[in-house]
Amino acid sequence: MTIATDPKKLWEDSFDEQIARGAYNAAPVEALVRNVAYYLRARHDKGSMHKLQALELGCGAGPNLVWLAQKGLRVNGIDIASNALRLARENLENAGYADLVGDLIEGSVDKTPFADASFDVVIESCVFQHIERPVRMAAFAEVRRVLKQGGLFVGNMLSTGHTTFQQKQAEQLKDDPGSLYLADGVSKIYLTNIGLSHFFSREEFGDLLTGFSTVDPLISTYYLPQEEAKRRGYDEYLQSMWTVYAIK
Ligand SMILES: C[S@@+](CC[C@H](N)C(=O)[O-])C[C@H]1O[C@@H](n2cnc3c(N)ncnc32)[C@H](O)[C@@H]1O
Repeated sequence: MTIATDPKKLWEDSFDEQIARGAYNAAPVEALVRNVAYYLRARHDKGSMHKLQALELGCGAGPNLVWLAQKGLRVNGIDIASNALRLARENLENAGYADLVGDLIEGSVDKTPFADASFDVVIESCVFQHIERPVRMAAFAEVRRVLKQGGLFVGNMLSTGHTTFQQKQAEQLKDDPGSLYLADGVSKIYLTNIGLSHFFSREEFGDLLTGFSTVDPLISTYYLPQEEAKRRGYDEYLQSMWTVYAIK
């Protein structure tokens, strides 16, 4: 079983299914918001948030952008899926933040149209883990390029401790260790049928975020409820994710 190799089609199909099932992510990702909130509290007054520019790489339906706008930041996003971007705009406008929306752009995270050093905060969640190695390298380089000096990057991505990687590591791609090609044909909304997934090890982040003054990857793990594990074809399913906190 293979799945679409065109990432735009893959993600637009995935979002069509997520929208039809009411299953797309509509909640800000806790690991991101805690880290961004910590950074903002330490460095910026509440009253000056509107001067800060934030960017989400692979913003999906925009729940993280809505949270950033709620904090008062000006928000920008890029996503490869046009249907996801439409939702992101709608969700921001419906939440009353149209005035804080900058650019919402259809495109790929490795080649963004944004100027050098133009953002105070750049985030990504569950995007860099699904792109091929050359695109992944270029995406991290984009983070470094578009962030201001002293700016914050927070990323949320799969770790090698994840059950799927632990069980299938013999199938790692030879030219991209840590990556699996997952296509079980069940549903495009699950990791097990999303094509390429990269499971990061702690050692990778030093190289990927070279030039940053702080690079602090923190791991979080939790078991899915048994019923959901079984639905995905596992007896036990350990989610294992890195939250990477980095300051340029
Ligand atoms: C798992 S979803 C996460 C969405 C969002 N970050 C969130 O936390 O709700 C992954 C997102 O990455 C987007 N994506 C995948 N590859 C991309 C690429 N090369 N460039 C831009 N966006 C991409 C998909 O369209 C999708 O919206």
